[in-house]
Amino acid sequence: MCGIVGILGERQVAPLLLEGLKRLEYRGYDSAGIAALANGHIECRRAEGKIDRLVAKCGQLPLTGTVGIGHTRWATHGKPTEDNAHPHVTERVAVVHNGIIENYRSLREELEKKQHRFTSETDTETIAHLLTDYLDQGMTPQQATSAALKRLDGAFAIAAIFAGHKNLLIGARRGSPLAVGYGDGEMYLGSDALALAPLTNRISYLEEGDWVELHPGQAVIHDCCDKLVERKIHITSLSGAMIGKGQYRHFMLKEIFEQPAVIGDTLSSLVTPDNRIALPEMPFDWAKVPRLTIVGCGTAYYAGLVAKYWFEQLARMPVEIDIASEFRYRNAPLTEGGVTLAVSQSGETADTLGALHVAKEHGQKILTVVNVPQSSMARLSDVVVPTLAGPEIGVASTKAFTTQLTVLLCLAVSAAVARKTLSAERAAAILQALREIPAHLNLVLRDEHFIQELAQRVGEARDVLYLGRGLLYPLAMEGALKLKEISYIHAEGYPAGEMKHGPIALIDEDVPVVFLAPHDALFEKSASNIQEVSARGGKVILFSDKDGVAGIGGKADWNMALPKVDPVVSPLLYAVPVQLLAYYTALVKGTDVDQPRNLAKSVTVE
Ligand code: F6R
Repeated sequence: MCGIVGILGERQVAPLLLEGLKRLEYRGYDSAGIAALANGHIECRRAEGKIDRLVAKCGQLPLTGTVGIGHTRWATHGKPTEDNAHPHVTERVAVVHNGIIENYRSLREELEKKQHRFTSETDTETIAHLLTDYLDQGMTPQQATSAALKRLDGAFAIAAIFAGHKNLLIGARRGSPLAVGYGDGEMYLGSDALALAPLTNRISYLEEGDWVELHPGQAVIHDCCDKLVERKIHITSLSGAMIGKGQYRHFMLKEIFEQPAVIGDTLSSLVTPDNRIALPEMPFDWAKVPRLTIVGCGTAYYAGLVAKYWFEQLARMPVEIDIASEFRYRNAPLTEGGVTLAVSQSGETADTLGALHVAKEHGQKILTVVNVPQSSMARLSDVVVPTLAGPEIGVASTKAFTTQLTVLLCLAVSAAVARKTLSAERAAAILQALREIPAHLNLVLRDEHFIQELAQRVGEARDVLYLGRGLLYPLAMEGALKLKEISYIHAEGYPAGEMKHGPIALIDEDVPVVFLAPHDALFEKSASNIQEVSARGGKVILFSDKDGVAGIGGKADWNMALPKVDPVVSPLLYAVPVQLLAYYTALVKGTDVDQPRNLAKSVTVE
């Protein structure tokens, strides 16, 4: 999604803005731009495509000034062209914007009648002209901002600089996050704290409806009614170093390899060395919760789907799960005393946030598993259990997923203990199995070269099927999602038992079928499905354990024996080979692994 950085400094801001934009690249974008005040006048540079093109442009035509704003744009209204790139500029103001202005058409019509000339197809340009209109009427930048914000419908974060005001940078937030950074005399705005990590670790987060005037060394924050308010300054633990690629070729590969460590960190924050769960206190009693409703999007939804199996099997709890964008408009009846559990890496996904608002309106308690503790979802929740994955930069989610699974299994075990559906011994055994996952994952990662070889073959396919049963069914969906996201090969994930009800028609010698089939209670069922694929000339790729490979491996064209684990923790183990397969297949295809086309890291629009 779009990214914002704003700097009110003492130094030349252009290089700092470009550096900040590079840190926002991971969010996904298709054009970029910066603007600064040079001798009181607004100067702007924009470029279609990658930031390097903007850097080159700024090299040819340098931008001077000590106050400025920058933006990476992920197109919503209008094509990803230079004209549509932000900042949008008039003689008096330059604006960058994340989100959508829903009433921009009527505002634009109104402003065009007043002779404002528009040069882009975007909704954002309306904000620049609206501010200009108020400034033309004699308002100060602060008055113009306050008036303009009252006219805008939609969800957005905005940053603006004003001609003739070199000591002023204004930001506003409604529905899309915006952080204020406090430096040594310098002040910053960022759509997330990562963009500001090299500049400062002192951050405050604007609340819904807030707007802020930044002056040298000072932030004046107003709420939605223009009342002056204070927002707490947090010291973040993010550092510039945490968001480098290290010795890895891509962030995604680095993050895949970080999984043993971050699963271990997450587990240590939730379970004591003698296997007692130490979760935050829940504002409800698991024993009395009549129904759990899980919501999420994409990979986070698949983590939730695994959790459904865990909560049902271990805690005998009725669970409903839905994709957040469906749930929020489905008007589903929610049970009194019910709990809604959101799963999210960013904590800013508009659909999941929308679903939580609906659940809250219906009196549900909100429990959130999230990787960004200051995020909008975290702030909306009654209780938050953080994943300690650290910043996830690769657009395709990897370590966020496995740390989500870690937290979700701890929650399910804790609910099961409270509901007396799991013995203390079995609970301890599950936690012990979870504790051993990082070591098992290291073994899988050590054998990545096998998957690298397999990727050469998968890279030739046009379609790939992923099949799994029970706890491995959501992993089949996640494997297929990873492959299509970064290699652009069409892939589908199905419950293995469903294959004969339709997808079997696709099978021929050109369609690889990836089976995720540990030797568990459902193994014989999966073995029959493998026979069915094999009988039709399909190419079987089998991820199992040594018993599974000994049992049916002969029918597979390729197989890999993963360590044997307690079946309940198998989703954590099988996540990694499917991530590696997607990664190495993407390398074969030569795609942009960390920033795949059309995708954004944190999807803050509907
Ligand atoms: C897939 C992926 C997306 C996200 C989804 C939810 O690799 O990254 O499917 O999982 O957009 O994002 P969060 O978890 O930030 O709510």
